Amino acid sequence: MADVSEDCPPSTSRRTAPSESLSAAFDPTLFRKNSEAVAARLESYLADPSVRGLRLSEPGVLSRAARALMTTEREGVADFDENRLAAIVDLYVRTGIQVHSPGYMGRQFSGTVPLAGVIDFVSSVVNQPSSYYEAGQLPAMAERIMADELNRFIGWDPGGFAMVTTSGGSLANLTALLAARNRAHPGIWARGEPGGRGRPAIAVGEDVHYSVTRAAGVLGIGETQIVRLPVDAQGRIAARLVPGLLAAAERRGLQVFCLVASAGTTALGAFDPIDELAAITARRGIWLHVDGAHGASLLVSDALRHKLRGIDRADSLTWDAHKMLFVPAPCTLLFYRDARDAPGAFRRSTASYVSDEEPDAHCEFDSGDRNLECTKRPMIMPLWTLWAMYGRVLFAEKIEHLCRMTQEAHAILLDEPDFEVLHRPEANIMCFRYRPVGVAEERLHRLQLRIRKQIRLAGRFFISKVDVQGTAALRVVLMNHQIGPEHFRDLLAEIRGTGDRLLRDGGLD
Ligand SMILES: Cc1ncc(COP(=O)(O)O)c(C=O)c1O
Repeated sequence: MADVSEDCPPSTSRRTAPSESLSAAFDPTLFRKNSEAVAARLESYLADPSVRGLRLSEPGVLSRAARALMTTEREGVADFDENRLAAIVDLYVRTGIQVHSPGYMGRQFSGTVPLAGVIDFVSSVVNQPSSYYEAGQLPAMAERIMADELNRFIGWDPGGFAMVTTSGGSLANLTALLAARNRAHPGIWARGEPGGRGRPAIAVGEDVHYSVTRAAGVLGIGETQIVRLPVDAQGRIAARLVPGLLAAAERRGLQVFCLVASAGTTALGAFDPIDELAAITARRGIWLHVDGAHGASLLVSDALRHKLRGIDRADSLTWDAHKMLFVPAPCTLLFYRDARDAPGAFRRSTASYVSDEEPDAHCEFDSGDRNLECTKRPMIMPLWTLWAMYGRVLFAEKIEHLCRMTQEAHAILLDEPDFEVLHRPEANIMCFRYRPVGVAEERLHRLQLRIRKQIRLAGRFFISKVDVQGTAALRVVLMNHQIGPEHFRDLLAEIRGTGDRLLRDGGLD
């Protein structure tokens, strides 16, 4: 046995009562006072109607600002200083992408419904990590309830499907691929090798999110075992080419165990034809995973659900609530059509500190065996609370509004001859280029990159960029219902001004 003195710091006193500073840090009155003060600051932040994107800080400056707020070792335990807390909150808010402003049009995480933050705050105080029922009873129950609620729109057998939450869509995609691989190669956990007819392979659309191909690498599936499926002009997998490509892969000695479709690609927001792909995968006994990290939320809208036609025939679905259901990140739901596949992703844990030798009815709600994570944030709580308090229609209204707004932005763009429209947006993601007459083809790519950088630096708007068919494009993701046509017109004017300046002043060299 190790000498205890190695592990324990030397005792400085004989006192067994907690120190005064320790008691003060846990003081409930201080907690209430400061929570109220922070809530008041956040109220002003939320009420600020100004158009703003991101104030980009020079890392050295930010580091100095952050370090200046820190207690030094010499001070020991510092007295509580409400000004310092206010400064930390201000710095945090000020240096972030302004997701609640109409200037934010750049990424897929949302300007959250503010009340979602209130329940997230409760989660942080009561600290009930999910994965095991005894550690978070309401979160475990809320997961079950939300799974049932959302499955109404997926359409699987209510008694036969399963759902597990994961910290992000990337982890959900990895988990689904593991489950698919293990179903096709059941001996792999024991032998460490696939066995079977050929080398394990997956098929993905050319525009699939990088987390999928990265997950393949984690599973030991190399680049040569990834079958790339071409997409059409709208960015959707060209289903008619798929049977031939799968047959060719098989002839090369590959055993495609999973085809990944996207319901909302990251670049263009395109929806792959799930129905047609499901017919192909069913014939060949291939697992169909739908990466709906962005677009699965359209299922809650009566008007937009058809974009995912055929989802009831998929084997699994990744659904990020922290994108189009407007709750704080991360909150991802991974659905399996057949509940028996869910524990297949991971080998059953026999660790005595979590698995119960005498399982009772509560253990049925444990999700630890279906997760990579052991301790996990009770991420379902903001989603369930909003759903409980407002109901589905609030989410549908916001999603429909954003998609309508994107159509309107598209119409505005079509009227601007110096902009190149790259596709008809299917949801709330749209890509385009600034392309005034006379710009040489080889300068187009750099022009978009520089415009995006300059716009970000200017701080009024935050947009993103992505390569479309090898050339950079500007990308907007409309996540905020406060964005109106006037904001989009303003953005185009700023892009035009920036682009013209860059072209005139040699800013592309
Ligand atoms: C289609 C798609 N899949 C997966 C992901 C990854 O999700 P997360 O960022 O939650 O890990 C994204 C993120 O943008 C996405 O757009």
